[in-house]
Amino acid sequence: MTKQTLLVTGASNGIGAVYADRLARRGHDLVLVARSADKLQALAERLRQETGVAVEVLAADLGKSGDLAKVEARLREDAAITGLVNNAGIAGEGPILTADPAIIDSMIALNVSAVTRLAAAIAPRLAARGAGTIVNITSVTALMPEAFTAVYPATKAFVLAFSEALQAELGPRGVHVQAVLPGITRTAIWEEERLAQIPAEMVMSVDDMVDAALAGLDLRERITIPSLPDTADLDRFLAARGALRPNLSLRKPAPRYRA
Ligand SMILES: NC(=O)c1ccc[n+]([C@@H]2O[C@H](COP(=O)([O-])OP(=O)(O)OC[C@H]3O[C@@H](n4cnc5c(N)ncnc54)[C@H](OP(=O)(O)O)[C@@H]3O)[C@@H](O)[C@H]2O)c1
Repeated sequence: MTKQTLLVTGASNGIGAVYADRLARRGHDLVLVARSADKLQALAERLRQETGVAVEVLAADLGKSGDLAKVEARLREDAAITGLVNNAGIAGEGPILTADPAIIDSMIALNVSAVTRLAAAIAPRLAARGAGTIVNITSVTALMPEAFTAVYPATKAFVLAFSEALQAELGPRGVHVQAVLPGITRTAIWEEERLAQIPAEMVMSVDDMVDAALAGLDLRERITIPSLPDTADLDRFLAARGALRPNLSLRKPAPRYRA
């Protein structure tokens, strides 16, 4: 990537904060978004000092419509911003039998609605320019929803499907869309006691995760799974799904459904 200005959501902590660090070290200017203005300011100050890039803080709660509209307007109107890292997200709604409807709502608002609206806000400008980057952070749970809680993987499956459709629409217009599917990554999204129960071999450091995702971006990957040793496995999965296509919409029901 040539020097750009990228807007990173969820940059106050975890994966988003490491994206901010790595992108600044690559020479990119940044707009950092999250609710914790103090954490964003401290990160921005450090990155300005260590890298010399311009870093702006835009404190916003992306689950609130007024704040989301403010960030959308910025993406729609600021011609300097040529990339978006759609990273902010929450997990941990618990089993559906006991899930709090308010938490379900805020998860869908942040993980689905905000991701969609921010990408939709920047897409027309990038398409008109014929260049730009949208990185959507989804999760491997999008590929194994039965192994997790019900709502979180579904939000991440949305982001994967959304990213693939965006890439199909915007790719030919010069915009690169990457879906990143981290596995378990050591961040504050996890309670320490929960992480301690998971085999260490399954937990990646946040530095390794983001460095791998950026290497995938450099390779112009559309789907990046940081821990997957062989991308041929992903290709086979996508090919198997693609093989269904000729029969997914036909005039007649399949013979087994006919009386
Ligand atoms: N860690 C993993 O194992 C893992 C695996 C797969 C996918 N992911 C995905 O990676 C992304 C980042 O997660 P993480 O592990 O880095 O979690 P994290 O350490 O908890 O960071 C989440 C970030 O999102 C921000 N955020 C939360 N609610 C927000 C809101 N309403 N408005 C704006 N920003 C908000 C937080 O900042 P404030 O609190 O300051 O707002 C924070 O910067 C998420 O989309 C997550 O689903 C994580």
